[in-house]
Amino acid sequence: MALSLIGQLQETADFIRNKYNHSPGIGIILGSGLGNLTACMEVELEIGYEQLPHFPVSTVEGHAGRLIFGKLGGKPVVAMAGRFHCYEGYTAQQVVYPIRVMKLLGVNLLLISNAAGGMNEGFRVGDLMILRDHISLFTSNPLLGENPAALGPRFPDMSEPYRKELIVKAQRIASRLNIPVKEGVYAGVTGPSFETRAEYRLLQLGGADAVGMSTVQEVIAAAHMGMDVFAVSIITDMGIRQEDNTITHQEVLEAARKAEPMLTAIFRELVTEL
Ligand code: HPA
Repeated sequence: MALSLIGQLQETADFIRNKYNHSPGIGIILGSGLGNLTACMEVELEIGYEQLPHFPVSTVEGHAGRLIFGKLGGKPVVAMAGRFHCYEGYTAQQVVYPIRVMKLLGVNLLLISNAAGGMNEGFRVGDLMILRDHISLFTSNPLLGENPAALGPRFPDMSEPYRKELIVKAQRIASRLNIPVKEGVYAGVTGPSFETRAEYRLLQLGGADAVGMSTVQEVIAAAHMGMDVFAVSIITDMGIRQEDNTITHQEVLEAARKAEPMLTAIFRELVTEL
């Protein structure tokens, strides 16, 4: 008989525990072009996704595809270098599989980074935006289907998916480090086509400050399991330019790379202070 979801998650977690017998309390997801945070980590073990039983395997340029265990700011963490997206053809359940494994390994706080297009007219390319809330425009919710009670409730509350306390703390850290940060609402879409002018406008009118192709499903799964979440977008392009409105993946990676040191500093300080 096919293994249940919980059974699969347990096998993945057991496989990891056999190789690494520390329990990371903090999980970090590194978005497009944001893999360098691991340079600040004391790395203890790396496991390629392809080695992990039941794990999806990452395909997109800029996503390395491995779990990295070690210390950041003296705290045990596990970082995902490379995440899964629906546009790669994964189901929403596959996209959140690693988050669920993290929970089984003891992760209670998830730090998320992503690249996003800006719609807020006060934003500029290279800005950091702390996520205050999100709008899920994904066609598929990761909690569809059978709900294993061991993971969380059938109808999880989403009134504060991004922990206010962490936002306040991060704002303080950013101001101490002289790093300007914005705060706003992230719209999650499936992609992989970037938005049309009309779509950016619609999202802007709907109250979104930035739009991207990740994060929202990970946050839903994390909230389902009672994890605290803190997330930051790097604004890699502006969706509301009147003239030349083309966007390339290259441009997104480039902008992410430039802003990465600021994001890394905020994550590192936040983890150190916790
Ligand atoms: N739209 C959607 N996803 C993105 C964008 C965008 O403009 N920029 C980076 N990821």
